[in-house]
Amino acid sequence: MGYFDMIAKTLFGFEDLLVEELKELGAKDIVKLNRAVAFSGNKRTMYLANYHLRTAIKILKPIDQFKVRNENDLYRKIQEIDWEDYLNNDKTFAIDATTHGDLFTHSKYVALKAKDAIVDQFRENTGERPSIDTEEPDLRLSIHIADNLCTLSLDSTGHSMGKRGYKRKQVFAPLSEVLAAGLVKLSAWDLKTDFIDPMCGSGTIPIEAALIAYNIAPGKFRHFTFQYWDDFDDELYEKIKKEATEKEKISGPKIYCWDKDKKANEITHENAVRAGVRDYIEIKRQDFLDSQEYDSPAHIVFNPPYGERLEEDEDMNELYGELGTHLKHKYNGSDAWILSANMRALKFVGLRPSRKIKLFNGPLECRFAKFELYKGSKKGKHMDKNKPS
Ligand SMILES: C[S@@+](CC[C@H](N)C(=O)[O-])C[C@H]1O[C@@H](n2cnc3c(N)ncnc32)[C@H](O)[C@@H]1O
Repeated sequence: MGYFDMIAKTLFGFEDLLVEELKELGAKDIVKLNRAVAFSGNKRTMYLANYHLRTAIKILKPIDQFKVRNENDLYRKIQEIDWEDYLNNDKTFAIDATTHGDLFTHSKYVALKAKDAIVDQFRENTGERPSIDTEEPDLRLSIHIADNLCTLSLDSTGHSMGKRGYKRKQVFAPLSEVLAAGLVKLSAWDLKTDFIDPMCGSGTIPIEAALIAYNIAPGKFRHFTFQYWDDFDDELYEKIKKEATEKEKISGPKIYCWDKDKKANEITHENAVRAGVRDYIEIKRQDFLDSQEYDSPAHIVFNPPYGERLEEDEDMNELYGELGTHLKHKYNGSDAWILSANMRALKFVGLRPSRKIKLFNGPLECRFAKFELYKGSKKGKHMDKNKPS
């Protein structure tokens, strides 16, 4: 099987996690980039990467790289490629473009120019053209232009790996599955200590925690674009899926999903059933601030509400202050990790974070803060709600 270069795209701050995941898969020539990791491997590596990587968003297979000066230049360079190697008039395609730098600023226009170049080539050669399908195309192309360097890739994934396929319903701004999996990994959970998400919403964090702890492949709930490629090796892919299923575990740690909202409980239940982890997690309707003292150390990971409007600021400061007090008094000996885009409210937790990691939830800049809870960890004197610590 031939070897080729690939690029796994990821979220800001997850590059090191992805490097580790790729090493475990046996990928070669691994190079950390900005929000991406380059690697090489064969067809099996590409299938494995899509099926097993928890912190990647997409797996791209570059097919050409060239310098471009303007859109017309891009059109010419794309026409030089023989597109019959990848497409025909019976197939559909779509193009995603991203641009960085001052030279190309309109990614939609870049995608349009590239599409024209491909369609015109087919028209000139055959009198017909392949159609566009942005939802489920047979071939998805990715164009990445950084300054004047254009990289053209086949997108082997399709829609983002952040959409695993088990979450059909959701409440309260759920995290993407890739972000949730990355949080669990960054929190360095030992996969033994009780895991608690006390404000679990649609259950994304605890479901990803269960998939990790029970070694369930994140790709098992969906299909990928490489399955439509002419060179798709069905037998190889079936073998990869079978091997993965054989490695799943049936016993593991306790994972708790709490939320005060009934609808959130119901949706977490449905999502967990679809993800095949319902038996491994306990769902409870509970206001976290009323929870009883937890008598053994727990590993707590959650994202509380951020508060979207200015008027909610005071409430958020108060909520985060209460969270800090409750964690300190009822979860002695535990570690708590909080993801929040509300930096001011986060200060009202009133505990000194032992780690603070910059991440993004979509466009929102966040901090993922670790609090080690032990008696005396609260910096009590600044708990006035107008005075963050
Ligand atoms: C930002 S959402 C969490 C989203 C979740 N991580 C996901 O991916 O779906 C915050 C959740 O906190 C819950 N919540 C707010 N205050 C709570 C409290 N005092 N106790 C328990 N849950 C609470 C809300 O009902 C909401 O579901």
